[in-house]
Amino acid sequence: MIFDEDSPFQVLRQTWQPVALTRDLPAGGVMGYTLLEQELVIARFEDGTLLAADAACPHKGARLSAGRIVDGCLMCPYHGWTFGPTGDCKNIPSLVEPNPQKCALSHLKSYEAQDRYGMVWVKLDPAGDTPLPEVPEFENPAWSYRLGPPMKFAAGFRREVENYLDMTHFAFAHGTTLGKCADPRIPDMTITTHDDGFQMDAPFPALETPHEQPGKLQSAHHRQQRCHLPNFTTIRQTFTDGDERVLVHIPSPNTRESCTVFWSLAISPGFDGPEPDGQIDFAIKVLDEDREMCELQTPREVPVNPTRGGWGVLVAPGDTLANTYQKMFRQWLQKHLDAAAT
Ligand code: FES
Ligand SMILES: [Fe+2]
Repeated sequence: MIFDEDSPFQVLRQTWQPVALTRDLPAGGVMGYTLLEQELVIARFEDGTLLAADAACPHKGARLSAGRIVDGCLMCPYHGWTFGPTGDCKNIPSLVEPNPQKCALSHLKSYEAQDRYGMVWVKLDPAGDTPLPEVPEFENPAWSYRLGPPMKFAAGFRREVENYLDMTHFAFAHGTTLGKCADPRIPDMTITTHDDGFQMDAPFPALETPHEQPGKLQSAHHRQQRCHLPNFTTIRQTFTDGDERVLVHIPSPNTRESCTVFWSLAISPGFDGPEPDGQIDFAIKVLDEDREMCELQTPREVPVNPTRGGWGVLVAPGDTLANTYQKMFRQWLQKHLDAAAT
């Protein structure tokens, strides 16, 4: 099956995408999120049950994300219709006589939702059966685990993945934070492919140049970047003293040209370096610089079909990882479209 620029969102519906931090959606919490151009309401009932459903109320389309949890139900703010944890319509206050038929017609269209890694995840298409990638360090209590604040990018999610894989922009886009004279030439790297993506391994030299974060974080380490398609990418840094950090970025697509980057950091026990919260503060500054660069790029999303706009003039080895991502993303897309067609 041939794919076009609509295909990525069609297939991403089969994957788990983050929509909120668990801490931002406590019991009784209600919020809105646009995932893959679909407006959702995300709610947590008093017993912890999650509901992810289309945001438009079946009555007159008011956004249920402006509603609240009342007596174990999600209540629409406009006329007070209420919905249970499975999206079933429980009550229509304006009815003089209960009318089960009207309630049955008003069942919310709901989706699978789960909590993992401190985030709330939603899958729009039940056909997808790929579980979330396993990152044991994120659930190991001996490690320090920190969630960064989700950050909105006015850029497509593939722009963000490329940026996260790119090692040649540090000297320019991160001149102040990471180092003014960071070497734009990348170290020798090894790329291995997996069924669900690819991995890059490289020695990373120490920066001898002025940069904002003192010491450790820019010292020599082994860098391993693991991309689980379509958009779950970790960076593991292993320092010469054995300390480790594992970062993840998941640019959750809102629209074709915008995404919200969910990210977190796990730090190995006894890490000899900046405190975890300081590392998060520093990473926010770095990510803000990345956001600026992603938002400068045109078109706002990398085309899946390079004949329609191209990927730009890419150079090896600097852009090899970006190239690998785009090529493997296309293969991943094709595989899923072919599976759906049979
Ligand atoms: S629009 Fe929701 S109850 Fe009327
Ligand atoms: Fe960057």
